[in-house]
Amino acid sequence: MDKTINGTVTLHNGVKMPYFGLGVYKVDAGSQVVDTVKTALETGYRLIDTAAFYDNEEGVGEAIKTSGIPREEIFVTTKVWNSDQGYDKTLQAFERSMEKLNLDYIDLYLIHWAVPGKYLETWRALETLYKDGRVKAIGVSNFQIHHLQTLMDKYSEKPTVNQVELHPQLSQPELRKFCQKHGIQVEAWSPLGRGRLLNHPVLNELGEKYYKTAAQIILRWHLQNNVIIIPKSVTPSRIRENAQIFDFDLSQEDMAKIDAININQRFGRDPDNANFE
Ligand SMILES: NC(=O)c1ccc[n+]([C@@H]2O[C@H](COP(=O)([O-])OP(=O)(O)OC[C@H]3O[C@@H](n4cnc5c(N)ncnc54)[C@H](OP(=O)(O)O)[C@@H]3O)[C@@H](O)[C@H]2O)c1
Repeated sequence: MDKTINGTVTLHNGVKMPYFGLGVYKVDAGSQVVDTVKTALETGYRLIDTAAFYDNEEGVGEAIKTSGIPREEIFVTTKVWNSDQGYDKTLQAFERSMEKLNLDYIDLYLIHWAVPGKYLETWRALETLYKDGRVKAIGVSNFQIHHLQTLMDKYSEKPTVNQVELHPQLSQPELRKFCQKHGIQVEAWSPLGRGRLLNHPVLNELGEKYYKTAAQIILRWHLQNNVIIIPKSVTPSRIRENAQIFDFDLSQEDMAKIDAININQRFGRDPDNANFE
């Protein structure tokens, strides 16, 4: 990865995706999401991660439309929610997301969770959307290795991206290795561990060493691991702080210190033991 805020990775289908962006889970619909996305775009963010489930797609679309930035310079991800899975329901859910976002195309459409008994049919719908040119890329979220393997055994089109919970306390080494081997780009959700890792002594010690905050140290660690990050903040100063990570490098030794923080601790649901009812 190079070191600029608007740098990209190339997905296996050739689409370029920014490796740095904003997540908008728990950002309120209406003025909060519009203002937050606008602040991020003004700061230089070019990737926005939303989902039907977040109930704020309208505001994301409005902020993009009124930003003055050409549509093709902004990468928009949204996701199909669990209750909409299956072939026909996914196609319908996609149309609803398109209407709310009020955009001509989506850059990346993800299956939000691997709902047992449904996600394979959902993937077939995503393939249809991709072949019809409605989305530039299709991918998955919260897929474990066995979900990815099952999907790849059945379909020729493999996911471009797997967006999973990933932070220093849940560094997912096996999953990252599997994805890398198969050309599936890993994207971290809760890259800051929902903000709960920011008092960790190792991260604070490294912050002092590099004149950075613990949040910036974590985000830089992700980038140096070739992981796409979408930190969420509704606080303008933090939106800017999280973008100040392109002017330093963590040494290999310090990367290893952060790797050692892993305790396989999830803050979100476990994809294998989630209740999808
Ligand atoms: N695919 C999935 O299933 C899934 C699940 C969860 C999340 N996601 C995506 O991933 C994105 C990020 O994950 P997340 O929102 O769960 O967690 P996160 O980005 O790890 O952390 C967000 C929390 O950290 C705080 N924060 C952000 N920057 C900070 C800073 N520099 N200093 C101190 N605190 C800071 C935020 O507070 P304020 O906002 O109050 O500033 C917020 O409470 C989501 O928004 C969503 O797009 C996807």
